[in-house]
Order: sequence, then C-alpha cells, then structure tokens
Amino acid sequence: MSKKIILSGIQATGKLTLGNYLGAIDNWVKMQEEYNCYYMIANLHSLTVRNDPETLKNNTLKILAIYIAAGLDPEKNTIFIQSQVKEHAELGWILDCYTYMGELSRMTQFKDKAAKHADNINAGLFTYPALMAADILLYQANLVPVGEDQMQHLEITRDIAERFNKLYGETFVMPEGYVRKSSARIMGLQDPNQKMSKSATNLNDVIFLEDEPDVILKKFKKAVTDSENEVRFNPETKPGVSNLMQIYSSITSKTMQEIEKEFEGHGYGDFKTKVAEAVIEKLEPIQKKYKEILDNPKYLEEIYTKGAESARKLASETLNMVKQKIGIIV
Ligand code: TYM
Repeated sequence: MSKKIILSGIQATGKLTLGNYLGAIDNWVKMQEEYNCYYMIANLHSLTVRNDPETLKNNTLKILAIYIAAGLDPEKNTIFIQSQVKEHAELGWILDCYTYMGELSRMTQFKDKAAKHADNINAGLFTYPALMAADILLYQANLVPVGEDQMQHLEITRDIAERFNKLYGETFVMPEGYVRKSSARIMGLQDPNQKMSKSATNLNDVIFLEDEPDVILKKFKKAVTDSENEVRFNPETKPGVSNLMQIYSSITSKTMQEIEKEFEGHGYGDFKTKVAEAVIEKLEPIQKKYKEILDNPKYLEEIYTKGAESARKLASETLNMVKQKIGIIV
C-alpha cells in the first residue's frame, strides 16, 4: 500500500517560536518515517503583512535551516519553498473563485490580523485561507499536522474541497487535521491566556528557537504562575502553571499525573528551572546544527531546488486535472 500524504508549512514572517516547534515541526519529525511528507515554507502567505524584502528572504532560508536542524531529512521528505512551485498561486486564484466572502469573514486569524494591521487590511489577508487550501489540495494530502489555531483554516479547506468535488466529481482528497494534544496550543509565558506568537510585543512572553540558554532560563523564571505554589494541571484556574506543564509534557512525554507527582512538595522556582532545562536540552543540538547549516547556503539551495522539482510533479498533475474539469485550456 502506498504511504499516506502529509502537507504542512510555516509562514516566513518573524522568528520561529517554541510554539511553532512543539505545535508543528516536532510532530513532523516524528511522522516522516510513516508518511510521504511535503513540508513547505509559506513565503507567499508572508506577503499579507509588510516585510522588509531582505528579511523575508533571510527568514525563508532560516526556516529551511530549522527544518533540517530539527531532524527533517531532505532525502525522506519533500522540503520546498511555496513560491518556487507556481501551481500554488495558480490554484490559489482558482479556489478564490470557489470560496465565499461570508466564509472568509468568519476566520478568526483574519479578524485578529486585521485588528493588528488596521492600516493594511489587504485582499490577500482576506483570501489567505484559499491559498492555504491550494497548498494542501495540490498534494492530495490526507493529513495536515498543525497547531490548534490553524484548524479553522483546515475546516474551510475541507468545505472548498467538498464544494469543488460536488460540482465537478471526485477531484480532491479530503484532508484531515492532526493536532497533538499536549502541544496543540502553547501559550505565552507572560499572558497564558493568549497563544505564544511570533509577533508578541513583550519578548518575555515568547521563547524563540534562536534564544540562548541563559535567555531561555530567564524567560521561564519570569513566567507568570499563581499564588498556590502547587504544580497541578487546570488550564481554567491555573493557566500559567498548566502551560508550563504542557511544554514539559510535550518534551518529556510525561503525563500530567506523572508531572504532578514529580513536583509534589516542590516550589514553582524548582519547577520552572526544570522546564527551562528540558527546553534548553532539546533546543541546544538543534541550534548548533542550525548555525552550521545556515553557514552553508549552497547546501540550502540544493535542498530547496530539489524539493521544488519534486513538489512540482504532483502539484502540476493536480492543477492540470482541475483545469480540465473547469474548462481552462491546459
Ligand atoms: P504559522 O506560520 O502561524 O504557524 C506554523 C505552525 O505552528 C503552529 N503554531 C503553534 N502551535 C502550538 N502553539 C502555538 N503557540 C503555536 N503557534 C504556531 C501553527 O498551528 C502551525 O501549524 N497558515 C499557516 C501556514 C500555512 C500552512 C499551509 C499550514 C500555509 N499553508 C498549509 C498547513 C498547511 C500559518 O500561518 O502557520
């Protein structure tokens, strides 16, 4: 039996966070043996907010380097840059024409970003989910591993696919979202009611994958908790402590009960240090490899060139089928 197909990606805007790592990349690494995986860098999606051109270019390569440093094997996976496979933009446009304004205006990411960038609520920001649907449907992906915040985009992808299939007959495979429970939504360290985000204004709220060990330790030590001094899982009443437990759990694979037991009778100071140490231990080898890879732009170019070639094969097959069905001369 042929392997099931996975597609996922990360926007090339800003520095990657521990949320991106635990919510996405770490899961991808675990899935690479079992599935036929396509992992991309969504640099076209990045254009929905203003970027300095040089920074966008650098971020694209940095994310590629993180993918490899974190353990994605370019021999086993197709790793590519979205803009280098032109089929994404083309199918994105086609799917725009099968996506309703009403659906798009319900997207929470659109509402959040529109509020944050009130001076630049561009059409791309609005139609963003149709391009994301194109990313997924071009590869006939069965599974899309993401953090919880992307599930709404996955649902609209399924609605678009279903609509298209109904109109033109079976065309797209219906993709399923895959969210790992322990890392579905890593929250901010200063505001544990908001997800940890690349665009946080308070830098103590977010662990960046490039943060040095002493910075990571400091940020965890400052993390907001509560006055109970008891390590117990309850996201409603103890969001700060519960978030630290989630982070610890997704790194060590320990259950919440095991973690509660481990820290019984210990204060928060000790607990925070242990969480920080676990994160540092996990990130240090990745950071070391990341620096080595970034120093080798030729190697990165080889990977993305080969990745785009391989991605184009399946993407062009799907796009041609779509065009034939809707009456666009191929
Ligand atoms: P992006 O770039 O915002 O985030 C990339 C991945 O990281 C996950 N993530 C988190 N998971 C847990 N806790 C957090 N605090 C956290 N922050 C981010 C996201 O859920 C995501 O899985 N639109 C997408 C990129 C994209 C894409 C795609 C994804 C473009 N095309 C096709 C999947 C399939 C985005 O903006 O993710």
